[in-house]
Amino acid sequence: MNGLEMLRRVRREYPQLRVGMFSTLNERGAAITLEALILGATTTWPRPRTKGRSTAPSPIFGKRYPEDQAVLPYARAQHGGSQALISTRGAASAGSLTACFLWVRLCLRSCALRAELKTDPMERRTIITEILPENYRFLQKHVHSQVGIVLEDNKHYLFESRLAPIVKQHGLGSINDLCALLRAKRDVDLDHQVVEAMTTNETYFYRDPAQYEAIRTVLLPKLKQERRDRRNLRFWSAASSSGQEAYTLAMLLLENGFKDWNIQILGTDFSEKVVERARCGIYQQIEVDRGLPAALLVKYFNRSGLDWQLSEPVRKMVRFDTIDLRKSMRTLGPFDLVFCRNVMIYFDNDTKRNVVKEIHSTLFRGGWLLLGGAETTFSIEERFDRETVGNVTVYVAR
Ligand SMILES: C[S@@+](CC[C@H](N)C(=O)[O-])C[C@H]1O[C@@H](n2cnc3c(N)ncnc32)[C@H](O)[C@@H]1O
Repeated sequence: MNGLEMLRRVRREYPQLRVGMFSTLNERGAAITLEALILGATTTWPRPRTKGRSTAPSPIFGKRYPEDQAVLPYARAQHGGSQALISTRGAASAGSLTACFLWVRLCLRSCALRAELKTDPMERRTIITEILPENYRFLQKHVHSQVGIVLEDNKHYLFESRLAPIVKQHGLGSINDLCALLRAKRDVDLDHQVVEAMTTNETYFYRDPAQYEAIRTVLLPKLKQERRDRRNLRFWSAASSSGQEAYTLAMLLLENGFKDWNIQILGTDFSEKVVERARCGIYQQIEVDRGLPAALLVKYFNRSGLDWQLSEPVRKMVRFDTIDLRKSMRTLGPFDLVFCRNVMIYFDNDTKRNVVKEIHSTLFRGGWLLLGGAETTFSIEERFDRETVGNVTVYVAR
């Protein structure tokens, strides 16, 4: 059993447990870490790049620790002794069944979780996460009709890990009970909660930095020249999740001489939960550690307890709203640049076609569309010219 399988199992048996993923941040480790976050891991810690298991000096702990002994005090110091923390090994690190179990047992014992579980009957109640085939098909259809996301036949773990906390919160016994409630169509909030839980909100500051570099070096100088009289620009971060994409753009503009311009950045997402988070502009340490240069953290953020909040001038440049990308968007524009990254990968071809067509209608002629690395307008919408800037593909509206 590798770390991810272990995580799945722990999630099933202890849905409320905070789970930390401890993995090396090489390419494979990073992919595993992302997978762990999707599966419901609460936090992640980088693991030293070691060849052997425990002899290299650790960048986190600074000493030659056997890492299993070192990570637990580290995790406790960061998250408090009363919280339950488990660290799982990544698949790449070949954590054997025994190692995983020993590790979990060590953490459970040390965090006094067992005692907590014994005193809290809610925690001990086991939720049946197995989904009957007809309910699996119902959930697939439901999510597709509500938000456009296609979940294939092999996404059981995703439904299980995302829906188990909802089952528990509503005092139900299983995901099948939840499906019965959804079928009865009596609770719109529950409906929305389930669909929101099935959206993947992964994002971070300066995601795909080459795209921001293309904006900085090519698009912004061009707009500065063309709009020097009106000095106004409009941008849209479509599927903005918790706002890092829109705020990265705001900081980029401030850093590049647009402070006195009239800038409007719109961030939109289907999920009310992430839109609400984006409006607050408050991020945890782990979120500002991902991709954001330290100089920008110091310049544009203020401490908010243990977290960081974007300063008011940055927040004022961005407005967030809930919008389903499948609806008509013609009235939103016109924009100079639209980000629509890492969301169309979840849609079927008809939905992609409609979304790209609508986005085209919101762009100025010559305006840019930027997509995620696995996305394209090719064979979807012909009214974009593909141009290469550095090693980035940008789609220019005709
Ligand atoms: C993986 S995040 C991408 C965030 C950001 N664009 C990035 O690349 O870092 C995908 C986002 O798309 C949103 N989403 C999914 N379906 C949507 C829809 N039909 N309309 C609007 N947003 C949607 C999800 O809620 C989620 O926040």
